[in-house]
Amino acid sequence: MLFQIEPPQPSAASLAFTLITSRQSILPRRLADPGPTSEQIEEMFQAAAAAPDHGEIRPWRFVLVPPDRRADLGSAFAQALAERDPSATPTQLAQARDKALRAPFVALVIARLGKSEPDIDELERMVSLGAAVQNVLLMAHSFGLGAGLTSGLAMRSIAVRQLFDLQDGEHAICCLNVGTALHRKPARLRPAVDSFVSSL
Ligand SMILES: Cc1cc2nc3c(=O)[nH]c(=O)nc-3n(C[C@H](O)[C@H](O)[C@H](O)COP(=O)(O)O)c2cc1C
Repeated sequence: MLFQIEPPQPSAASLAFTLITSRQSILPRRLADPGPTSEQIEEMFQAAAAAPDHGEIRPWRFVLVPPDRRADLGSAFAQALAERDPSATPTQLAQARDKALRAPFVALVIARLGKSEPDIDELERMVSLGAAVQNVLLMAHSFGLGAGLTSGLAMRSIAVRQLFDLQDGEHAICCLNVGTALHRKPARLRPAVDSFVSSL
């Protein structure tokens, strides 16, 4: 009797290891259409919701910036530059504005560090935020998309706080940019495990 031998299936561990270790940041100027589909966006944020969260206070949130609001984000970036450097030239202001327009998908990552019940230390909350962001980045990578984070001084500006209606204790941390990678750098060398893991 004829039968077909199935190729060995990669284990969940080897899939996870390959996915995690092959992820790399892609700068927004190297991200093009198509961006993530609405189903992919939903799954990226379901992945965020799977982050460890001490006290279940969800110390982070995301705000999507759809295409018709990118100009507002660009204006906030330009205002942020003008806030800290009143002598910024029109070219510099245009460059700041342009940063909002590059990636097909942009969301602001916000840390929620205000009062909470239970009261969880801010550092622990930032660990949760980092895990949520990493889950999103990995999910985007698993879809074959490119993704990267962008921050800068604009995150602390009044203009960005106002645009996103940030409340007391909330902080804009970075933008999450997702799209199709036009170019990927060679894989970055990663630190050796013994350089950051020791034993008592
Ligand atoms: C909170 C946060 C903000 C970041 N902001 C920027 C940024 O403004 N510009 C940038 O080029 N990369 C930014 N990055 C991405 C890092 O530069 C990137 O992760 C690093 O270069 C390592 O690259 P890899 O992710 O491919 O390993 C940011 C990363 C984090 C965690």
